[in-house]
Amino acid sequence: MSMGKSLPHDAAPLHVTGQARYVDDIPLPGNALHLAFGLSTIARGRVTALDLSAVRAAPGVVAVYGPDDFAEMPDCSPSAHDEPMLSTGEVFYLGMPLFLVAADSHLAARRAARLARVSYDAAAAILTVDDALAANSRFEDGPVIWAKGDAARAIDASPHVVDGRFEVGGQEHFYLEGQVAACLPLEGGDLLIHSSTQHPTEIQHKVAHALHLPMSAVRVEVRRMGGGFGGKESQGNALAIACAVVAARTGRPAKMRYDRDDDMMITGKRHDLRILYRAGFDDQGRITGLEFTHLFRCGWAQDLSLPVADRAMLHADNCYHLPHIRIESHRLKTHTQSATAFRGFGGPQGMVGIERVMDHIAHTLGRDPLEVRRANFYAGMQTPAVAQSTPYFMPVEDFAGHEIVAALAASSDYAARRAAIAAWNATSPILKRGIALTPVKFGISFTLTHLNQAGALVHVYQDGSIHLNHGGTEMGQGLFQKVAQVAAGVFGVDAAQIKITATDTGKVPNTSATAASSGSDLNGMATQAACVTIRDRMADFIAGKHQVKPDTVRFEGGMVRVAGESYDFARVAMWAYQARVSLSSTGFYATPKLQWDRKAGKGRPFLYFAYGAAVTEVVIDTLTGENRILRADLLHDTGASLNPALDIGQVEGAYVQGAGWLTTEELVWDAKGRLTTHAPSTYKIPAFSDRPPVFNVALWGRPNREDTVGKSKAVGEPPFMLGISVLHALSEAVAACGPAYPALDAPATPERVLAAVARARGDV
Ligand code: MTE
Ligand code: MOS
Repeated sequence: MSMGKSLPHDAAPLHVTGQARYVDDIPLPGNALHLAFGLSTIARGRVTALDLSAVRAAPGVVAVYGPDDFAEMPDCSPSAHDEPMLSTGEVFYLGMPLFLVAADSHLAARRAARLARVSYDAAAAILTVDDALAANSRFEDGPVIWAKGDAARAIDASPHVVDGRFEVGGQEHFYLEGQVAACLPLEGGDLLIHSSTQHPTEIQHKVAHALHLPMSAVRVEVRRMGGGFGGKESQGNALAIACAVVAARTGRPAKMRYDRDDDMMITGKRHDLRILYRAGFDDQGRITGLEFTHLFRCGWAQDLSLPVADRAMLHADNCYHLPHIRIESHRLKTHTQSATAFRGFGGPQGMVGIERVMDHIAHTLGRDPLEVRRANFYAGMQTPAVAQSTPYFMPVEDFAGHEIVAALAASSDYAARRAAIAAWNATSPILKRGIALTPVKFGISFTLTHLNQAGALVHVYQDGSIHLNHGGTEMGQGLFQKVAQVAAGVFGVDAAQIKITATDTGKVPNTSATAASSGSDLNGMATQAACVTIRDRMADFIAGKHQVKPDTVRFEGGMVRVAGESYDFARVAMWAYQARVSLSSTGFYATPKLQWDRKAGKGRPFLYFAYGAAVTEVVIDTLTGENRILRADLLHDTGASLNPALDIGQVEGAYVQGAGWLTTEELVWDAKGRLTTHAPSTYKIPAFSDRPPVFNVALWGRPNREDTVGKSKAVGEPPFMLGISVLHALSEAVAACGPAYPALDAPATPERVLAAVARARGDV
């Protein structure tokens, strides 16, 4: 059996030897053009004059396109039609593309793009949450409100109440491969696009729309991305459209690659937000009523902000049963980059809110935060009839938090270490340690229900070799290998015998983005269906030849076993071909059981939940605020893992990325709306040296209750939120400095830790 094996990433040898081909490595014809955008230097206002003569005259420049060159400006947005490829006069953020340069080299295009003379009529930009609230600048008419029970009344009747305000920073994706696309013009006006995108169908759709072509005239191919993390769900549209427009106009191939600074200046990031909370609770810390207000800074365009902010609301409960809850979500429009999908898709932003509330309650009562968390957990495994339900009325039938947390608390020696840390802190005036255990419950499925579908195309050739294609994209997460293992399992062959091919809109149409962690759930099932169709045809054929029932035929160990005989898979493929049996099939899957009313905030948006928990221990220097992780223990629910090695990689990487979000990664805009942290010199992602020196990672492998591929669970995003334990370990360390609640904002940079130490001591 190939499913469940810890095979290495299929492209690992190509990655480490430099042979793996990314879009920028694809050889293009010598007449290819290279593109660059010229960017606005103000955040809001109007362009009053755009003099591109120096750009046109610059060495190597072949063509320059400004807003006047388009009778109709192409739109790059995923749905709202609010993202013109170039400003048509109005400027919405600092970094907005104003014009497009095509030159004979990448460098020539970039150099020329700086030579424009632009005059502006600048206006006061709306940059912050407070600016946006004051100007009532928002998407949708007003906040979205979901409520269950009567939160206000429950809080007022509670013996204890806490309230607070929590600022949570955004995050740059920092995929190693930046945004890039290339377009080759084909005969008759057709186009072939190579794009670093999680969403080939959307690239196809947007290019077709921009050029008034049918989707059938545009083919998009994606072999792999060098990381996406949600940043390539929609942010690649502009580059692909620009390449297509130039290719269509000049008849020459065109390629566009943002350099790192441009990438950070132009593209969207994780949404930052402010969370306001008010919670009523009893002496045990059990929450009786809770109110949240989410104030999301969405940037200039709608992009994916509505579903991201929805998912934050859907994760405001995390693992906790909240009978009386009200969540109010504001989607604020600002003159900054358009915030977009990022691993967890709003889930992390929702979850940090309730974890902050748990921490605040525990501090107020002087209890171990883990006790308070457990006191609020959903009940364990339940039948739907008696299951407790989420704030959006979905029964929680599969809650595994009790068992996972008990197992992790034991394996990490949480209680004893917590006591030892308290004793150590009592004798350590400068350095303080902290430890925290936080759990995760993350909903799996796209909340836009129709996206929960996938297709696959599988061929068995007459020599027995197998060609696999599906709608999912590979961004490093190991999807292709996992799905190949599914296919290999059906045919009973080695995974290495499956030829994994690039995602291609010409092979599998109408795909959803590879997102919401659902890549292997959806494409694994579609592939399984395609493979089973072919295998059944082969079994029918060979059983017929042997006058036995098809269900007695076995495909295993690279052989086909029938009526006591054993044949090579390849031999049976050849015979089947000669007998004119079709050896090619599509497969399709649509996730069952979903129904969701977004307006009302009611229904079952998810097929199931993935769970996990993390214990992190940190140390802080109370003189400087510097801090580091000393040890992390993670236990994460992958169901019956399709590939434990890849899943552990996902869990480790996600935890570190989550820790980066909440500690070192800080985005700073100046008062004019310029992002001042637009390179690795000023924006600090975790380095290898930031990996916890003690890092124990284990998988919780209980098979999924739901009927997923191999009974596995999605793993891409959920463990990102294990990083929340780092913030709470820091909060504990700060709390050791004085009696007041630290109220540590994120990212907890040394400056913020230092400020929180002062707050805890009552110095400010
Ligand atoms: N892992 C790697 N190495 N690179 C990535 O870009 N993206 C994450 C996650 N893990 C990502 C990753 C995100 S945001 C998602 S939604 C999932 O992978 C998507 O892939 P999956 O659905 O196959 O898990
Ligand atoms: Mo992931 S944020 O759903 O691409």
